[in-house]
Amino acid sequence: MTRYEQQRAFLKSNFHEFKHIKTDKIKGLPQPPVVKPFDPESRLIDLPKVSREVVGHADIYDCIDQRRSTRFYSAEALSLDELSYLLWATQGITGMSKNGLTLRTVPCSGATHTFETYLLIMRVEGVDQGIYRYLPAEHKLLFMFELDQLEQKVDAITLDQPFVPNFAKKASVMFAWSTTPYRSEWKYDISAHKKILIDAGHVCQNLYLASESIGAGACAVGIYDQKLIDEILELDGEEEFVIYMGAVGKKRE
Ligand SMILES: Cc1cc2nc3c(=O)[nH]c(=O)nc-3n(C[C@H](O)[C@H](O)[C@H](O)COP(=O)(O)O)c2cc1C
Repeated sequence: MTRYEQQRAFLKSNFHEFKHIKTDKIKGLPQPPVVKPFDPESRLIDLPKVSREVVGHADIYDCIDQRRSTRFYSAEALSLDELSYLLWATQGITGMSKNGLTLRTVPCSGATHTFETYLLIMRVEGVDQGIYRYLPAEHKLLFMFELDQLEQKVDAITLDQPFVPNFAKKASVMFAWSTTPYRSEWKYDISAHKKILIDAGHVCQNLYLASESIGAGACAVGIYDQKLIDEILELDGEEEFVIYMGAVGKKRE
């Protein structure tokens, strides 16, 4: 197979092959946790309850129509209400399936939801700069640690940006979505990986639309330093690693 053929094969449905595979689920292996566990001694930050008031009079039609990747941000910080809303819009839990899986604001193949949301918070009212993890079941933030020279680190993580150099460090917050592939592999084996990538797209699209609805702008970031972000977030890079990022900030007038 040529390089392209190999990569294109990954994009195709492999359901016929998958049908004959004895998945770990079928073999009776234990189901992995549906969300990443956390130390109960961690510093947790309550997020305001999400209500439609945060969006004012925003209209879904306008949000879809006006959405653009936004790489220029004002100096205004996001409020905690707004951040709470963005987290809910991208990964919030809105129900449970009969077999104990989380149902969220975004669709996901087989409700496997392999993502965790990490935040590199630079400018959010009432929240110290630093690295946080979203706890979707609790709707809280888990404070991980402060990071010296956070903006410079964000700059290094987002490498040489082709459209607007160094834009990400001026965002209010960088979302970093990791995947824990085994949550999907347990059920979907070799067909998990294509699904995980598609799932990630839904998450970021909700970030775009929800940002638009609060006068903020988002920009997907697929160009990032894999090793550096995984190291910073203390991910092993194998069982869990960053798959996609997104920058958000209030729009410049
Ligand atoms: C998977 C993906 C990765 C992207 N990565 C970057 C990126 O690293 N830097 C950037 O400035 N824009 C990035 N973008 C934004 C695209 O460049 C943008 O969506 C495209 O130019 C179309 O513009 P629009 O979103 O304003 O319609 C990415 C978009 C997607 C969907």
